[in-house]
Amino acid sequence: MRLNFYLATKNKNKLREIREILKDTGISVIPCPAGVVFPEEEGKTFEENALMKARYLKGIVKNENVVGEDSGLSVERLNGLPGVLSARFAGTDCDDRKNIKKLLALLSDCENIRDRRAEFITAVALVTPDEEKLFIGSVKGLITFTPRGNNGFGYDPVFEIPGTGKTFAELSSAEKNNLSHRSIAFRKLAKYMIKRYNVQS
Ligand code: IMP
Repeated sequence: MRLNFYLATKNKNKLREIREILKDTGISVIPCPAGVVFPEEEGKTFEENALMKARYLKGIVKNENVVGEDSGLSVERLNGLPGVLSARFAGTDCDDRKNIKKLLALLSDCENIRDRRAEFITAVALVTPDEEKLFIGSVKGLITFTPRGNNGFGYDPVFEIPGTGKTFAELSSAEKNNLSHRSIAFRKLAKYMIKRYNVQS
């Protein structure tokens, strides 16, 4: 049996990354149907929001498998901010550039790179006709003083992977997918689905 799931996101960058992460698993990712408008994310955790998105889309596609994903950046010095607010950190009409600007401004008095520790976190919620399961992935890094690199999206230009000297935005998509929070969480999901549903990759 070839397994698949609807992905409960409108974010094309996430869809692209997730498809690439799962490309050799035999699991296919069906984009969210056009016209679906998700409610405001009100959860206090990535897990709550991921489940909320998956359950909402499940209510529309009914007997299908659905996966919800919620992710973001947690900065130690900012007590976990931007956290679940990552996408809208700089306000309602924000974009990646404005979010990064706000983040760097909040860390402007933090002059030692070692004090700029952060973590990217992804929660993945699988909702099928039989069950609900959660998978978590995270990766530790450091917030740079200025943005670097042109790949990726979101906070990628200011998230440096210790030991590489490079930000996520300076890595190729294959390199990022090798170590990202999203790939860790989705590989756990793939492993579970392959075992549970006996899918041959
Ligand atoms: P969500 O759509 O509510 O999960 O928002 C996720 C937000 O977190 C994105 O809009 C980005 O700002 C940030 N984010 C999540 N994952 C990544 C990543 O892999 N790179 C850079 N930013 C990310």
